[in-house]
Amino acid sequence: MTDEALARAIAQIESARARGACPVVRSFFDEATFTATHVAHDPVTLEAAIFDSVLDYDPASGRTSTHGADEIIAYIREAGLKIVWQIETHAHADHLSAAPRLQQKLGGRLGIGAAIMTVQTVFGKIFNAGTEFARDGSQFDVLFQDGDAVPLGALPGIALHVPGHTPADMAFIIGDAAFIGDTLFMPDYGTARADFPGGDARQLFRSVRRLLTLPPETRLFLCHDYKAPGRDAYVWETTVGAERARNIHVHDGVTEDEFVALRTARDATLGMPRLLMPSVQVNMRGGRFPEPEENGTRYLKIPLDTL
Ligand SMILES: [Fe+2]
Repeated sequence: MTDEALARAIAQIESARARGACPVVRSFFDEATFTATHVAHDPVTLEAAIFDSVLDYDPASGRTSTHGADEIIAYIREAGLKIVWQIETHAHADHLSAAPRLQQKLGGRLGIGAAIMTVQTVFGKIFNAGTEFARDGSQFDVLFQDGDAVPLGALPGIALHVPGHTPADMAFIIGDAAFIGDTLFMPDYGTARADFPGGDARQLFRSVRRLLTLPPETRLFLCHDYKAPGRDAYVWETTVGAERARNIHVHDGVTEDEFVALRTARDATLGMPRLLMPSVQVNMRGGRFPEPEENGTRYLKIPLDTL
């Protein structure tokens, strides 16, 4: 079977490297949720995209704050960037998205993978969200399909569907750089978990192998880092070549069955993320909070004995 979107991504990266059409990337790391937010821009037009922003949230008090997002806004204003995209690589289960707040201040179209509708259906049911919660992705401005063009200024871009961690995961390739969400982590840490509702280890393996078909020099920007044992700095950038040589879960030579056995065994040992309940309820709504009740207060729910 030919993978036409992947072939276009490979050609894009090769030509971008030859022409020097590469985005500048500045990353912001949120240590509370181990999330890396990436701001990529075209150095010629200064058009920029924000990938996976974080809204600060204190679960004990239920209080949110934009401390982290404000730092990103300050950087963007100082660098004179023009935001054209606010992109979620997937509906995160470990942090609340700050995309609507950032969009209000900076503009840009809010995009996510079209399979978010599947995620909305699953979690809409789990949280008994009611008919006022639309499950058609209408909370977003753009729903990406595999192979869609995602240009950034003069730089070419393409979206690849890479499900497995969740059904809606997408990777975004801009020039020579790939923003791959929760698929691969650093080589010494491995891969994303595949045990959330709608996750699938076999699908994750296929998505990861697809990404590892990109040219070896491709810059990979990860959504998380957890510091592998023996390493004392957070790192969120690597290359396809490094992952193929050394990724502890999926280096070249690991078979699909071996990966599925390993991933499934590891997932069985993992607790649910600390912020899963609030994150999913907010992120399935495109980062917006549920509607206020008649006293004007917005509430999040906790389903008991469900997950
Ligand atoms: Fe995730």
